[in-house]
Amino acid sequence: MNHSPHINGHDFRLLINPSWRPERRYDAEPRSLTAASCRRAVAEIRSWPGYAPSRLVELPGLARRLGVGGIAYQDEGGRFGVGSFKALGAPYALAAFLAARLSRRFRRRITSRDVLEGHYREACADYTAAAATDGNHGRALAWAAQQVGCRCVIYVPPAVSPGRVAAIAAYGAEIARIEGSYDEAVESCSQDCRRNDWLDITDTAPSTDLGTHGLTAARRVMAGYATIIDEALPRMGSAPTHFFAQGGVGGFAAGAGARLWQQLGDSRVRLVVVEPHRAACLFASAEAGEPRPAGGDLETVMQGLACGEVSAPAWDIVRQAATAFLTIDDRRAVEAMRLLASGAEDDPRLIAGETGGAGLAGLLAVADDAGARAALGLDRDSRVLLVGTETATDPKRYAELVGHPP
Ligand SMILES: Cc1ncc(COP(=O)(O)O)c(C=O)c1O
Repeated sequence: MNHSPHINGHDFRLLINPSWRPERRYDAEPRSLTAASCRRAVAEIRSWPGYAPSRLVELPGLARRLGVGGIAYQDEGGRFGVGSFKALGAPYALAAFLAARLSRRFRRRITSRDVLEGHYREACADYTAAAATDGNHGRALAWAAQQVGCRCVIYVPPAVSPGRVAAIAAYGAEIARIEGSYDEAVESCSQDCRRNDWLDITDTAPSTDLGTHGLTAARRVMAGYATIIDEALPRMGSAPTHFFAQGGVGGFAAGAGARLWQQLGDSRVRLVVVEPHRAACLFASAEAGEPRPAGGDLETVMQGLACGEVSAPAWDIVRQAATAFLTIDDRRAVEAMRLLASGAEDDPRLIAGETGGAGLAGLLAVADDAGARAALGLDRDSRVLLVGTETATDPKRYAELVGHPP
């Protein structure tokens, strides 16, 4: 019998989390993201102007094709008109930081809703928010900064497509071009924020030690993502058995995974973290048992996942919550986009960008591999949750890959 936690398929690598046990009893909630902080974020976001839950659709045709009991797909493409779930993270963190600063300045309680409704535009103009991005996080921050009236600087590595950079600039943000990787852009941004007393709305932090630069921002960003789960669970009927979550720095998998853990406790879902072969820092960290950079060159069509280093607070959750880590080929990401665009059998047609469909791409990679199915407990009774994390955020690239415009 093979006791190795690794299963290598013809185009995937699967690692069963060495510390995961189906029978293990878990703490009530992860330390790095408390239920109270998630509840606060979700309540706050639900009170914002323009809030509407993202749509959740069932894909029975695809479920039949892949031999699982059901697939529920939450489409984050319409979130606040910003194109991705990232509109739940950076805006929440920015508004919370500004509300705190303005409350101190004006000596009265100012909420993030007050800030987002634009009541303090004049005062907000005195502040600058900044973040590095591989596309969507920067776009979400630029949108939020425009709403509240503060200055915004977004640090962009060359891997981000021109269409995505243009979308960020269209919200009035200044673009700081960085020669280097996403992780180097994060570091440049962090240095400039410290030097200039800017608000660093980073979605990743290098350590979980109190006082670490960026830790509060990264935690707030993750807390905002809990909204997705609070919307999805009540509409799913029966709880999911599996969740295939895209992994960049780990914030999405951690925020959504932590909320599933808080909501479902011991009966919680099997969380499978999906990364590109060549940008798999979570997979590398799981293998090492501690944070490790990705071995690959970060070249991938899944631009939102082109991250070389994990976020420490996200890793702290994912290392406990994940059942498995999975790396996939770019071709699977494109296959997922096309499959969603055409719809299996009578399933609705859906638009997902290269990273948006990557959760499905992970499911496609393992669905017909008997060893992987057995290791993940994936069978005809499984109910899989997928999140379409972005729409066609670069329509030109989408058309090239799918063969027609979104
Ligand atoms: C569309 C999309 N999905 C998923 C992710 C992964 O999120 P994280 O980096 O928090 O792991 C990103 C990150 O940019 C993204 O843009």
